[in-house]
Amino acid sequence: MCPEAETSVVQAPMLRRWPEEGYTRAPYWVYSDAAVYAQEQQRIFQGAAWHYLGLAAEVPEPGNYKTTWVGEQSVVLTRDENGELHAVLNRCAHRGNMVCREAFGSAKKLYCVYHAWSYKLNGELSHAAFQHGLRGEGGLPPDFDKAQHGLKQLRVQAFCGLVFATFSAEVEDLETWLGDVAAGIRRVCHKPLKVLGYDTQRIHANWKAYHENPRDSYHANILHTFYGTFGLSRQSQESGMVLDGAGRHVYFYTKAGTEKASADYAKTAEQLRSHNDGLRLEDPSILKWRDEFGDGVSVQILTTYPSFVLHQIANSLATRHLIPRGVNECDVVWTYFGFADDDEATTQTRLTQTNLTGSAGMISVEDAAVCEMMRRAMADGSQGASFIEMGGKTLESGGSSKLSERAIRNFWHTYRQDMGL
Ligand code: FES
Ligand SMILES: [Fe+2]
Repeated sequence: MCPEAETSVVQAPMLRRWPEEGYTRAPYWVYSDAAVYAQEQQRIFQGAAWHYLGLAAEVPEPGNYKTTWVGEQSVVLTRDENGELHAVLNRCAHRGNMVCREAFGSAKKLYCVYHAWSYKLNGELSHAAFQHGLRGEGGLPPDFDKAQHGLKQLRVQAFCGLVFATFSAEVEDLETWLGDVAAGIRRVCHKPLKVLGYDTQRIHANWKAYHENPRDSYHANILHTFYGTFGLSRQSQESGMVLDGAGRHVYFYTKAGTEKASADYAKTAEQLRSHNDGLRLEDPSILKWRDEFGDGVSVQILTTYPSFVLHQIANSLATRHLIPRGVNECDVVWTYFGFADDDEATTQTRLTQTNLTGSAGMISVEDAAVCEMMRRAMADGSQGASFIEMGGKTLESGGSSKLSERAIRNFWHTYRQDMGL
């Protein structure tokens, strides 16, 4: 043995191997490995994908801005004096200070408190304090070019009032990237939107556990007892799933009141804790809903890769923005909205239903709870992998059935391509 080998204490990094079954498995280390998490920030959140920033209605006037996140990076969405939207990295081009500290604001310029560099709303550097020094001393070099020292600009595009941005120059335009799933956004966001409120929930689990959840139509009518017991969504109802052509994005829908009797379902329903025809609510007003889109769809859950959800559950409308906060934590920012022309009764109905479908609602709270239980059960992730074969083993199998993990297989397929895993 050579002397170097005898004395070496440097360990080669553990080589991570994806299970050979491919996208029908997700190894548990992918939820807990810090090196994987760091790579996701580069390859996914700064890669060729569009990331949700907010609603155009959140920055309605020239000068309005909103601070938000793309992965771990703070980003400012602005509306300039001409009404154009911009997205800039919230990091001063001088020495890296955070420029905007407020969640929302209105300003003519973005101003860094550290050394007073100020920026136009499109991110261009407008003024650097003491650029020419004082009494012949100090100052920036004569070749200092303001045009080279603006805030980093992201590409920004809006679709039906939802604003997305990307660090990528290559990714196709937003509507093309959304593909067939654009129809699900168009259906809900079909007229001017109005923000009703927010909440943010910290989930003690890896962001991908939450991302999988709204892609997982299989769990919805099983975990969520409210859906099945009170008939908002049952497997026996007319339902379907739409994936975009690339398998990156998906939405599911269910039509309440369209149950078809089947011996199969009757047999399974006996086993479901979520289907109990004997239960009644003392005050059933929370379940009252109006078919405002005129197509009978009581639940539509839409997810775009990697961190956005749009839901219509009865008359509750919301976006959910998933923000990773380290390998074992993430935030979900919920923005509840309605339409600018809603009457007061409709607004009240939407707000009341957040008790079902808000972050602490009787349906949604179960998703966060499951993500946290998964984190505990997966432990350090050194062993095991999830099994994702409901509906079949391929990217196509399962078709448009909700009894399928097809959308999850497609997620892991995209993820592995992006990550080179
Ligand atoms: S860090 Fe912003 S002006 Fe110096
Ligand atoms: Fe769920």
